[in-house]
Amino acid sequence: MAFKEIKIQELSINPVTVFSEGWALLTAGDKNKFNSMTVSWGAIGEIWSKPTVFVFVRHSRYTYGFMDNGEYFTVSCFLGKNRNELTLFGRKSGRDCDKYKETGLTPVFDENFVYCDDAEYVFLCRKTSKTEFDSNNFYDKDISGCYSDNDYHSIFTGEIVKILKKTSK
Ligand SMILES: Cc1cc2nc3c(=O)[nH]c(=O)nc-3n(C[C@H](O)[C@H](O)[C@H](O)COP(=O)(O)O)c2cc1C
Repeated sequence: MAFKEIKIQELSINPVTVFSEGWALLTAGDKNKFNSMTVSWGAIGEIWSKPTVFVFVRHSRYTYGFMDNGEYFTVSCFLGKNRNELTLFGRKSGRDCDKYKETGLTPVFDENFVYCDDAEYVFLCRKTSKTEFDSNNFYDKDISGCYSDNDYHSIFTGEIVKILKKTSK
């Protein structure tokens, strides 16, 4: 499937629903070893004068180690498509199975990046930071309920180095 590179100024997707309703695959690693998982929490914005994607990854995820160790990551956005496949990517762990084989989705290897050929948009990112949540800093006490098992998210930021948009099937 074909993608074309677009500028951030040409991006017309909703920055909230692209995650919350559309779902995405977060992928880290390289062509020799990589892993992808479904994410529906995230953000697109600007920090340190860099267009940036923010993703939230719990320590228990297999993907976490790839995010920690690698210099790059990608966010492949599906805009509500491939729901069954993304449900599998969000329920099974790459520790236990090959999620690409099980779903039939196709990884693409592009220099430093691995992303999903079946997505509608892809953000190719260079990792810029990792931040840990501190439970003392939640002003909204309801949030603590997300962490009753102490499996906290880390916030990873990545400078957007390229945006791809699907052009054809
Ligand atoms: C719709 C959906 C959204 C999800 N969003 C996130 C997320 O934003 N952050 C996270 O850490 N886990 C999220 N998950 C859970 C992971 O995708 C899931 O635990 C996955 O199996 C981890 O795979 P891995 O062990 O191969 O990394 C989500 C799961 C689903 C189904």
